[in-house]
Amino acid sequence: MSILSIIVAIAENGAIGQEQQLLCHLPKDLKRFKEITNGHTVIMGRKTFESLPKGALPNRKNVVLTTSPSVSFPNCIMVHSLDEALQISESEEEVFVIGGAAVYKLALEKADKLYITRIHHQFEDADTFFPEINESEWQESEREFCPADEKHAYPFTFVTYVRRS
Ligand SMILES: NC(=O)c1ccc[n+]([C@@H]2O[C@H](COP(=O)([O-])OP(=O)(O)OC[C@H]3O[C@@H](n4cnc5c(N)ncnc54)[C@H](OP(=O)(O)O)[C@@H]3O)[C@@H](O)[C@H]2O)c1
Repeated sequence: MSILSIIVAIAENGAIGQEQQLLCHLPKDLKRFKEITNGHTVIMGRKTFESLPKGALPNRKNVVLTTSPSVSFPNCIMVHSLDEALQISESEEEVFVIGGAAVYKLALEKADKLYITRIHHQFEDADTFFPEINESEWQESEREFCPADEKHAYPFTFVTYVRRS
């Protein structure tokens, strides 16, 4: 069995997206996302795939969830349930659910690890939210604060949680 990990950037009030896009551009967060997921399977919803600027993420197996029997995207494996996505990656050490809200909701109860970027800002116009996290189920294992600077409009903190056994 693989470790099932969720990786997500969450602003205040659980916000993760607006008008099918991310809430803000944080280069350090994108770099870390790339480093952590590089070489692994990434599982995402059809809407998140369609929001990617250059299509499938390079050097990763891109698995896209859809209910449609006919939709397909270049360099992606299309699946119709989370279980199907997990089956095709079951021999791998760690697989990553990369969004969006609908797929995070499916995956949260099965997840073993959460890589959360807490963005310390409230986005008033956000329209997409991460499901509620039951803090008692999770143990914080790492934390790193990054202040705002000329390239990062808001401060943020990388927090990693592992499921309590
Ligand atoms: N902050 C972050 O880290 C982060 C990360 C990723 C995404 N986001 C944001 O999240 C937003 C998108 O989230 P979303 O919830 O609207 O969409 P989503 O989860 O990316 O995709 C939803 C689609 O996935 C498919 N799907 C979902 N559950 C399924 C199931 N059980 N079986 C089969 N297919 C299923 C359906 O596709 P069909 O309609 O084709 O059937 C559904 O419409 C965007 O704003 C994006 O920028 C944020």
